[in-house]
Amino acid sequence: MEIKSAKFVMSNSEYQKCPPPHRAEFAFIGRSNVGKSSLINSLTFTKGLAKTSQTPGKTQLINHFLINDRWFLVDLPGYGYAKVSKEIRQKFEKMIFDYLLKRENLVCLYILVDIRHKPQPIDVEFMNRMGEAQIPFYVVFTKADKLSNKQIQESVETYQQILGETWEELPEMFITSAEKHLGREEILQSIEDLIKS
Ligand code: GTP
Ligand code: MG
Repeated sequence: MEIKSAKFVMSNSEYQKCPPPHRAEFAFIGRSNVGKSSLINSLTFTKGLAKTSQTPGKTQLINHFLINDRWFLVDLPGYGYAKVSKEIRQKFEKMIFDYLLKRENLVCLYILVDIRHKPQPIDVEFMNRMGEAQIPFYVVFTKADKLSNKQIQESVETYQQILGETWEELPEMFITSAEKHLGREEILQSIEDLIKS
């Protein structure tokens, strides 16, 4: 899919205040610092559209971007950020889960995991929770530029094995690098297919 325009719309801490739910919406989630905001910038070829940082905890609100004047990309805060108080972490989690469970025009969720790490319980549990809530999702491996092709394959296989213990049917997986724009076309194609279906 060609990206003709990408505009920031608004930031919110409550799903009720998000833009009217009349357009297809695709959200990006994962642990802090996994590369959600960077991937949104890569998909739209717009540096600085979503704010990124080397320090985890950069994105703290639900951010809507209007793409091609037709559908929304949503950048969410990361989950499981250890360096904030329990109270703040719970506040973020409530905001994220309220959004995920109640946003009626959310078509599909892209769950990002760092390809360098073995499957982390927090990510696998999050995927299981989304499955139980019947929220469709894809798994997106980030930072693939940091590994060799062989290591990439090993990482993906390990993930498939772990998810295979719980899931009869594995979610579709994408291998990406925001730095090299790897996986960009494939993700945009998946969005286009979902919009058309
Ligand atoms: P929070 O908003 O804090 O939850 O983080 P985030 O998931 O939005 O991560 P962000 O996009 O801000 O990126 C975090 C760090 O990872 C930044 O230093 C990015 O430059 C780096 N990064 C993101 N994607 C890639 C990638 O594909 N390759 C490499 N090498 N670095 C990346
Ligand atoms: Mg971010």
